[in-house]
Amino acid sequence: MDSGSPSECPRFPVATAPAERPGFPRRRPRSQRIAKPDVKDKRGAKAAPRFKGRIDLENVTFGYEPDRPIIENFTLNIAPQEAVALVGPTGSGKSTIISLIARFYDPAGGAVKIDGRDVREYKQRSIRDQISIVPQESVLFQRRSGRISPTASLRRAAQKS
Ligand SMILES: Nc1ncnc2c1ncn2[C@@H]1O[C@H](COP(=O)(O)OP(=O)(O)OP(=O)(O)O)[C@@H](O)[C@H]1O
Ligand SMILES: [Mg+2]
Repeated sequence: MDSGSPSECPRFPVATAPAERPGFPRRRPRSQRIAKPDVKDKRGAKAAPRFKGRIDLENVTFGYEPDRPIIENFTLNIAPQEAVALVGPTGSGKSTIISLIARFYDPAGGAVKIDGRDVREYKQRSIRDQISIVPQESVLFQRRSGRISPTASLRRAAQKS
């Protein structure tokens, strides 16, 4: 995956996913996505300080299965307050990059850094407390005993508002 250069488009940089790479893995249906996050805090992990917001992916390589890399040697540098769009075809790894930044998974190679520190140094909870993610597939309602009802997260959000 190649990253776009912020200098080409300073107001809204676009990182380009490797669209037409031959043999590019197709996006699997959700039912076939086998890997579940199982990242553990490392011994001596610290609570992250309040982030300024610099994000660096340095030569990151990652695959949900060892023999099927999704992202290879990918570098992306985002300054605090900078808005970046990841653009690419379905299955190219955009959501995977977000999952790596929030440390739902660890890269097989390279490093993900926030404010210059490898996210593996921090307690996961302290990273996620500072990152908001709006999932592309939001589940707001569920069917229970034949009735449609709001999910627990929707109920919590409604209580707060
Ligand atoms: N939990 C998982 N286990 C195994 N493979 C997965 C998992 N999640 C995603 N993948 C695979 O990794 C690849 C990248 O998926 P990802 O969801 O990051 O793509 P995307 O660029 O966000 O696609 P879209 O534009 O459809 O959202 C796809 O081939 C997908 O099937
Ligand atoms: Mg996605």
